[in-house]
Amino acid sequence: MSSLSGQHILLGVSGGIAAYKSCELVRLLRRAGAEVRVVMTRGATGFVTPLSFQALSGNPVRCELFDPEAEAGMGHIELARWADKVVIAPASADLLARLALGLADDLLATLCLATTAPIAVAPAMNRVMWEHPATAAHVESLRGRGVTILGPAEGEQACGEEGPGRMVEPQAIIDHLAAIPGPLEGVRVLVTAGPTREALDPVRFLGNRSSGRMGYALAEAARDAGAVVTLVSGPVALPAPQGVETVRVEDARQMHEAVMARIGGVDLFIAAAAVADYRPKAPAADKIKKTHEGLTVELVRNPDILAEVAALQEGPFTVGFAAETSDLEAHAREKLERKGCDLVVANRVGEGLAFDQEENEVLLLWRGGSEHLPRQPKRALARQLIERIARRYAQD
Ligand code: PMT
Repeated sequence: MSSLSGQHILLGVSGGIAAYKSCELVRLLRRAGAEVRVVMTRGATGFVTPLSFQALSGNPVRCELFDPEAEAGMGHIELARWADKVVIAPASADLLARLALGLADDLLATLCLATTAPIAVAPAMNRVMWEHPATAAHVESLRGRGVTILGPAEGEQACGEEGPGRMVEPQAIIDHLAAIPGPLEGVRVLVTAGPTREALDPVRFLGNRSSGRMGYALAEAARDAGAVVTLVSGPVALPAPQGVETVRVEDARQMHEAVMARIGGVDLFIAAAAVADYRPKAPAADKIKKTHEGLTVELVRNPDILAEVAALQEGPFTVGFAAETSDLEAHAREKLERKGCDLVVANRVGEGLAFDQEENEVLLLWRGGSEHLPRQPKRALARQLIERIARRYAQD
């Protein structure tokens, strides 16, 4: 799998004849498995039409900061958060100057201020403009802030001059983007997902409504962030994610065993599974017959996988979930302390959220802080969660 596979690339295009090369860049990015969204400056639209980039990227192209219709779809802050990597190709002298000064006078410059994703720029301009001390100072300033400057290449220029100022080739930009390590590069992550089924007899079980979507989306987002991921999953109808070692289990004790057998060497443990707290003490060997008016089943406690992992000496960074129907924050904070994990993702059950739903909304909690992540599809939410988890893991 390419290291750009599944990545969200925000391509900024500013005004310059090299903008035509960025059409090829979009094509190559998509071929490498990336999802691409294009933002153009007004100057860029004089060289290539937004429609060309829309057709190539498969996504609407944004040009204006104050566009109520576009903002209703994906607001500029959401777009800034969406990006795993930002690349601006071509980057004109004017754009470099505006970025260096931290201006927010159009959508592209604003996004660059609002994103935490790594930014790379591929300058393209007349060689005298490139060599001008003002441009050189802006480039130095950007470099000092961690922006990668790709090129420019030397050679014949559209203006007829020879020298540095040509945009580097699209493939060189792709190679650079692919080489940027993800926020969880090489981190070993174990995710639990889905429900457990606790046998009552050979055909019946106690279970819950977890579909596995949240945990599977987290496993995929962690993989896309560069992690080496193992997924321990209860019974769900989802296919195993590509590039993720997936271990299927049925009940809580099997999940416990599968996790504990693999936890050595794991750096980050994310417990998204809805594990049954109790199981029938003595499941019937044969199908229970309808012979009595009532039936009493004695339940016994299951091992608490999350608490056990969190208590390990030299154990991994642990992220628990809390699914609550009331007093979300209070119950989740209680779980954070009682289970001894580093982070808790609290989700409210109901109103089309959490169990067996396409969308979720969460409150991420840690000792001394919290962050609300608004309602959205679980895949998008998982990417935001992984970004936040990676940041806190790195600080740990
Ligand atoms: O699968 P989906 O349909 O996408 O739904 C997602 C979800 C609602 C299941 C998920 O977002 C979620 O909230 N998972 C945890 C559900 C839950 O059972 O929470 P809990 O509050 O009972 O458990 C607290 C934490 O302890 C969880 O991290 C759980 O995985 C863990 N736990 C619980 C019991 C146990 N015996 N072992 C555990 O590890």
